[in-house]
Amino acid sequence: MNQVVLTGFMGAGKSTVGRILAENLALPLIDIDEEIQSKFQSSVTEIFARLGESVFRKEENDMLVQVLQQEAVISTGGGIILSPQNRAQLQSADFVVYLKTSPDIFLKRLEGDTTRPLIQEKSPEEIKTLFDSRTQLYEATSHLVIETDLLTPQEIAKKIKKEFQIRKEKS
Ligand code: S3P
Repeated sequence: MNQVVLTGFMGAGKSTVGRILAENLALPLIDIDEEIQSKFQSSVTEIFARLGESVFRKEENDMLVQVLQQEAVISTGGGIILSPQNRAQLQSADFVVYLKTSPDIFLKRLEGDTTRPLIQEKSPEEIKTLFDSRTQLYEATSHLVIETDLLTPQEIAKKIKKEFQIRKEKS
């Protein structure tokens, strides 16, 4: 199936790379956070505050199952790998790419962010601890890991496209 799923921590560039990659592959872009926000007509922050993280996570599970039926570039939220059910889904997905970004870089990008409830009032050390607790899960659920630190979003998208085409030729 023509499908690429992007995973990675908050601030890894999934949405930006997703946009470019979708254009390069002539596929639609589906951003799971955006799908959830438009379904609830609320921001992620509001959903967490009004309904709680568990409602958001349940919605994220359902949305992942749904979007994996489609040919698209799929940009996930950084916490997608937390649920065993989602990890199983990712394992059966076509092509999952982990955008691996160093703390120095994502912490800079996340500075002053007000849209991600999990990092509000957290110190850089606490955010890095959250990242460390997840790295193994990102690695274990991906078919390809791209170290993004020294690459532009265009270069990352180009690399993914190349690997995707090699995979398609082999299958
Ligand atoms: C989350 C990441 C966010 C969003 C929510 C929870 C996480 O998405 O899904 O705030 O648990 O890492 P981004 O990775 O696109 O910021």
